[in-house]
This record gives sequence, structure tokens and C-alpha cells, in this order.
Amino acid sequence: MTEVEQQKHKAAIAAVAELRDGMIVGLGSGSTAAYAITEIGRLVKDEGLSITGIPTSRNSEKLAREVGIPLTDLDQQPHVDITIDGADRFDENRNLIKGGGGALLREKIVAAASDRLLIITDAQKQATPLGGFPVPIEVIQFGAAPIMVKLQRWELNPKLRMRADAPDKPYVTDEGNHIIDLHVDIVDLPHELARRLEALPGVVEHGLFLDMAERVYVGTDDGVTVYPPGA
Ligand code: A5P
Repeated sequence: MTEVEQQKHKAAIAAVAELRDGMIVGLGSGSTAAYAITEIGRLVKDEGLSITGIPTSRNSEKLAREVGIPLTDLDQQPHVDITIDGADRFDENRNLIKGGGGALLREKIVAAASDRLLIITDAQKQATPLGGFPVPIEVIQFGAAPIMVKLQRWELNPKLRMRADAPDKPYVTDEGNHIIDLHVDIVDLPHELARRLEALPGVVEHGLFLDMAERVYVGTDDGVTVYPPGA
């Protein structure tokens, strides 16, 4: 395992230690969240941990089934105790850019339904001010073109995300929408940007997760650093 993968793994193990019997647990998406899902599966199987998971993507659902985590959905369990998820960038105020993997809408819905959102990352993703990674916006397909025009006028350098396996076709999310990535270097006023994006008709959600994460667990070469300090 590379050092970065070890960091992700350490962060995941630290966050999973917060889980208790009987909890409804949001299962995040991405490679770091996959370590958490695998660890939860191990605890369910080997130590009899009794939890029920709510996956935030089809990929996470598949992995959760493979490792034997009992699953439910928000219709059955609209209240989630803890969600453990990754991030693409985080700042020292625990604001996040998420959605590099395209699951931001379900991730934000599950996070918002959760009492606690625990973020797990490697040390390379720290960015204060927030930036260094495109900010994704999930948009209704019907509205993608005029939204692109508006974002260009705002000089936010938007690019329609294309499929990795078919680069001439737009990416389609689990909810059937497109994603526009804003290639900006720094998000210096994230709350203001979030408000502007939310006011655009056809924008379903954006990847700025502001004031949502209770803790960020950062795997380092020496162990795990937790934000806020002392948490
Ligand atoms: C998925 O849509 C994202 O929000 C992920 O949480 C994010 O991309 C982190 O993924 P990695 O853990 O693979 O870096």
C-alpha cells in the first residue's frame, strides 16, 4: 500500500471507531470511504457490530453488499446517526469540496440527514483557502447549456464533465443529471459562491459542503490528525 493509501486507511479506521451498535450509518463514496466500508463489513462479520448502512452511490452499495453490511434507504430510515465520507479538499474550518467521483447529490442528501458527518482524508487534500480542485455542480440535463453560459459570464471556467469511458458523451450521475466542473484555483468566498449557484434554476446541488462536517480525520505518516483540534 502506498503512503497515501495508508493515510486514507488510518483515517477510515479512526472514524469507524465512532460507530456503535444499532446505528444507521451513511456510507460515503470514493476510495477513502471504501476503506471505511470494508472496515465496517469486517466489524459486522467478525465482531457482531449491528449497524445498518445507507449507501451514497451505486458503487458504495455494491461494495457494502460484498462485505456484508445490512442496508436500508432514506425512505425506511430518514434519520441517519453518522455518515462517514471522503472529500476532495478540506480547509481548516472543515469546509469541503466534494463530488470528484460524481456522487455529490446523494452524498449531500445523506449528510444533511445525519446527526454527525465525519470526513476521512489523506493529508494531501488540505487546502486553506479552499481550492486546488474543481468545484462540481450537478445540473438538470435540460438546463445545462444556459447554466454553462451564465457560469462563463461569471468567469468561473466551467467545463461539462464527460464520461471517462466515452469522452464524447457527457457524464450522467446516479440521479440522471449532468455535472459541470468549475475550474477555479481558489474559492475565496465559498458561502457567497454557494448562494449564487443555488440561485441558478436547474442547479440541483453543488460540491461545496459548508458548515456540515463535525470532524475531519486526516491520515498522516505519523497517525491521524483530527479537526477541530481537541475533538
Ligand atoms: C465522490 O463524489 C466524492 O465526493 C468523494 O468523496 C471524493 O471524490 C473523495 O474520493 P477519494 O476518497 O477517492 O479521494
